[in-house]
Amino acid sequence: MTYSTIAGLGFYVPENVVTNQDLTQYMETSDAWIRERTGIEQRRYFTYGKDTNASMATAASRMAIDRAGLQPSDIQLIVYATTTPDYYFPGSGFLMQRELGLEGVGVIDIRNQCSGFIYALSIADQFIKTGMYKTVLVVGSEIQSTWLNKSTEGRNVAVIFGDGAGAAVLQATDDPEHRLLSTHLHADGRYAEELYVREPGSSRPTRAATKEMVDEGGFDVSMNGSAVLKHALTRFPEVIQEALQANGYQPEDISLLIPHQANLRISENVRQQLNLPPERVFNNIQRYGNTTAASLPIALTEAWEQGRIRSGDLICLAAFGSGFTWASALIKY
Ligand code: UT7
Repeated sequence: MTYSTIAGLGFYVPENVVTNQDLTQYMETSDAWIRERTGIEQRRYFTYGKDTNASMATAASRMAIDRAGLQPSDIQLIVYATTTPDYYFPGSGFLMQRELGLEGVGVIDIRNQCSGFIYALSIADQFIKTGMYKTVLVVGSEIQSTWLNKSTEGRNVAVIFGDGAGAAVLQATDDPEHRLLSTHLHADGRYAEELYVREPGSSRPTRAATKEMVDEGGFDVSMNGSAVLKHALTRFPEVIQEALQANGYQPEDISLLIPHQANLRISENVRQQLNLPPERVFNNIQRYGNTTAASLPIALTEAWEQGRIRSGDLICLAAFGSGFTWASALIKY
């Protein structure tokens, strides 16, 4: 039986640190409000002319490939998750493929917002299990800072999000003790407009951006924060339990839960619902904010770098976000 295992992890965050205090230049907010409601202390914003969605992903990928003991030329497929591509099309996966010098290698560009990385991981896993590919690069990368309305009007959204990228190299293995056990993917399109960016949409009378579209906030992230919060608090535990049950485990068997870094309050609530001690849940939202598809690979990489993941550990990844989408992955590391 062929399985997939994580052979290497990497991440890249832009050097520009934006603290909560920095945001008070643009909007009426405070460090205390942001920390209390979200746990976020700072986030990174890309530097125009230096970072692109694809260049950040390339840096993260090079690190992951190197740590796997491989060369870029060993990659047989790229699965690239982003909500904020450099171009409307083609996707940033193609630009990263070019930067890595991997002309001819297949690229699957997926969106799926905050659950994007787990969807990407699941797709890579299926290709490896069927024997079609042996080495697949899975990426999550976002530049969200340009999309945010940084005035007081947009503050409920703007304070949450940041930029960054993370990557994992998945490789085929026949070792049942160190592998991706399962992935679980869900979505409910009834809530599509609870967290979305409407423009530039195709089903419009004109292709041009009108003043009306801009004034109505069509290009800004629109979020019903309390609806997202409510659904997240149900879906996170549900999809984690689903992954555990599928593999005959209980919450107490989890060595480390890495939730998508949406809000520290959500992570803490989920931890309590699962009755896990604080040291078994990994959080780094304090330093990066919510980096959407990049959040899980950044957190996974940092957890590994900090020695919080050891061989044989049971690692659970879980995500919830726009779509709505939610997903989990259980890994025997
Ligand atoms: O991956 C999924 C991504 N999204 C999420 O995970 C979002 C989930 N939702 C949340 O995390 C929370 O809903 C937020 C942190 C976004 C907001 O917290 P909340 O407790 O739901 O606040 P609220 O939107 O209900 O606003 C409460 C008050 C309002 O003032 P009034 O009407 O009570 O006077 C807001 O205007 O807080 C105000 N407010 C702010 N004040 C200072 C909203 N944003 C800010 C801000 N700074 N940044």
